[in-house]
Amino acid sequence: MSCSSCHSLKPREEGKGPSLAGVFGRRAGTDPAFAYSERLRDSKVIWIESTLDTYLDDPFNLGTQINMMIHGIRDDQVRADLIEFLKYSAR
Ligand code: HEC
Repeated sequence: MSCSSCHSLKPREEGKGPSLAGVFGRRAGTDPAFAYSERLRDSKVIWIESTLDTYLDDPFNLGTQINMMIHGIRDDQVRADLIEFLKYSAR
């Protein structure tokens, strides 16, 4: 399952997951249009390289109740590429 089946890169366009527009540098769980799990909303995580890497490796790493249906991306290079992508195109 790909990210885009649940996430849009257009601001305020919510799917099964929150819009990822501008997600890099943003605090977790703060897209006002999306009803997050309490865990993510209260996590105080800021999405930068290290936190995205931890989350995408396995969403349980941040203690979030997963509803991402992905069991994490184990390939370091794939994660790194994805994070670069989010950083430069999701604004
Ligand atoms: C089956 C749907 C689904 C898929 C597939 C999915 N996600 Fe998610 N994603 C979610 C949901 C739902 C949340 C909110 C989780 C919560 O509230 O705890 C989320 C949250 C996130 C967040 C945190 C957003 C924020 O505003 O704090 C990021 C970053 C993210 N996903 C990235 C990805 C990436 C990258 C992929 C592809 C590798 C992906 N997701 C695949 C449903 C999905």
